[in-house]
Amino acid sequence: MKLFVDTGSIKDIETIAALGILDGVTTNPTLLAKEPGEFRQNLKKICDIVQGPVSGEVTATDFAGMLREGHDIAQIDQHMVVKVPLTREGIRACKALAGEGIKVNVTLCFSAAQALLAAKAGATFVSPFVGRLDDIATSGMELIREIVEIYRNYDFTTEVLVASCRHPMHVVEAARMGADIATCPPAVIDALFNHPLTNIGLEKFLKDWEKAHAVKA
Ligand code: E4P
Repeated sequence: MKLFVDTGSIKDIETIAALGILDGVTTNPTLLAKEPGEFRQNLKKICDIVQGPVSGEVTATDFAGMLREGHDIAQIDQHMVVKVPLTREGIRACKALAGEGIKVNVTLCFSAAQALLAAKAGATFVSPFVGRLDDIATSGMELIREIVEIYRNYDFTTEVLVASCRHPMHVVEAARMGADIATCPPAVIDALFNHPLTNIGLEKFLKDWEKAHAVKA
C-alpha cells in the first residue's frame, strides 16, 4: 500500500521523505492556506522533494473555472494531480481533464455511489474521507470496504486513496481491505512507528551491550 502525507508543510514533507517511505502528497485549500508563500511555488517545491503524485485542489465550483484552474495546476509539474470535489461540475471536470491525460483526484467522497461516479469519470484517485464520516457516527472504514469491492467487481483502475485518516488503525484497516493508498497528517505517520516494546527492547539491548563492554574494560 502506498503512503501519502496530507499536509502543505514543506518542512514536514522533507522530514518524512527523508525516511524513504513516502509515495506522494495530498493538499487541500485549508492546508495550503496555512503555509507562507505562493501556493504554486510551494506545490512545485513539494513535487521536487517527493517525485511522486502531489494533489493540488481547484477552488472554482463551476466547470469552466475548474478546467481553467486544473490546467494551471497541472502545468506546475509532471507529478501534479488535479483535485476536484465530488459534485456534478467536479465529475464533469474530471471526465474532461482525464480525457486530456491529466491525473485527477476526486475528493470529498462520502458514499459508494459517489465513488462509482468518480471511477466512471476516469479519476486516477478517489478520496473517501474516513475520519469525517466517523465524526458523524458513520463507519468510514465500511465505506472503504464497499468501494474496494465495487472497483474490484468491475476492474476499475481508479485508486482508492483513503483520506481524513486520524490514527494508525485507519491505515492498518485500509491496508487489510486492500485500499491502494492512505494519506495521513504527519502526526499519524509518526504514530505508525511507535510501539512501547520497541523502545523497551532497544533500551535493554543497549544496556546489556554497555554492561558486557564495561566488564571487559
Ligand atoms: C484529503 O485529501 C484531505 O486533504 C484530508 O485527508 C482531509 O482530512 P481532514 O478530515 O482531517 O481535514
